[in-house]
Amino acid sequence: FFRTVASPPSSNFLLLGPSGAGKTAFTTLLESKSSTSAKKTQTHTSQTSTLITVSLPPTVPTASNRYRSINDPSLKEASKNPVRYRLKDTPGHGKLRESQGLAELVSMSASKDIKTKIRGVVFMVDTAALTDEATLRDSASYLHDVLLVLQQRALGKGKSSTKRDAEIPVLIAGNKQDLFTALPAGSVRERLEGEIERIRKSKSKGLMDASADGGDAEEEEVLGDDDGKGVFSFKLLEQVGIKVDVVGGAVKGDAEEEVGSGVRRWEEWIGMCL
Ligand code: GTP
Ligand code: MG
Repeated sequence: FFRTVASPPSSNFLLLGPSGAGKTAFTTLLESKSSTSAKKTQTHTSQTSTLITVSLPPTVPTASNRYRSINDPSLKEASKNPVRYRLKDTPGHGKLRESQGLAELVSMSASKDIKTKIRGVVFMVDTAALTDEATLRDSASYLHDVLLVLQQRALGKGKSSTKRDAEIPVLIAGNKQDLFTALPAGSVRERLEGEIERIRKSKSKGLMDASADGGDAEEEEVLGDDDGKGVFSFKLLEQVGIKVDVVGGAVKGDAEEEVGSGVRRWEEWIGMCL
């Protein structure tokens, strides 16, 4: 069958990432782009999650219409009836991650209900702040925990459910590319992979020490599912069915540029999930 052009906003995306990455700024931008009454709110550290419904710009292709030509009359239809989706902004503060972002991820990734299950995860980082050791460590450890939840879900699939669950891809949205100190997407990828490798190493060493002590170390999987033998890369996760893309962008663009153009490539990633 063919999916209709106008889909109800039943596709959910979860927005995660450390504090200050720009998640709420992104959410606010998408909201103001989708509505005619543009409201500008000042962002501040979030303490609770918020769910918004936004529409994809009609010029952004979706997985179901990617082969359509610009002259296709159904594109005009699409602009009258845009594809909508929901985005859940979560607080990134270290003390709120477990109870909010990760808790949402655990429940939404396990959900079978179309209203709450997620199509994808957007993990936002501040690419100008990743040169700072502490920020890199903080961002990478949160990302590590997120990927581990997804890996456990991916490896557990087929056990209890007969129907194969759809995979949940991850977009690492490298924000603040407008700043001249920002790292390009390639370096962001390398640094995060390098830092996750370090976390992985120390975790599996901790597990080995615990079992050597005769303690009953919890059967915890290692991210990448290779017992930490190789060197970690996001590519390694493809073996367990998790696709990770790193794409740069900026919520706050150049004043000269069209409003929202800095988030276009993230919207394109979202479109490819729809
Ligand atoms: P928490 O709610 O604490 O998890 O943080 P957050 O990820 O929601 O960050 P928020 O959206 O509040 O943004 C933090 C700061 O970064 C704000 O001052 C934003 O104005 C700023 N910011 C967001 N995006 C950009 C960007 O693309 N470029 C620049 N230069 N600043 C940005
Ligand atoms: Mg926020």
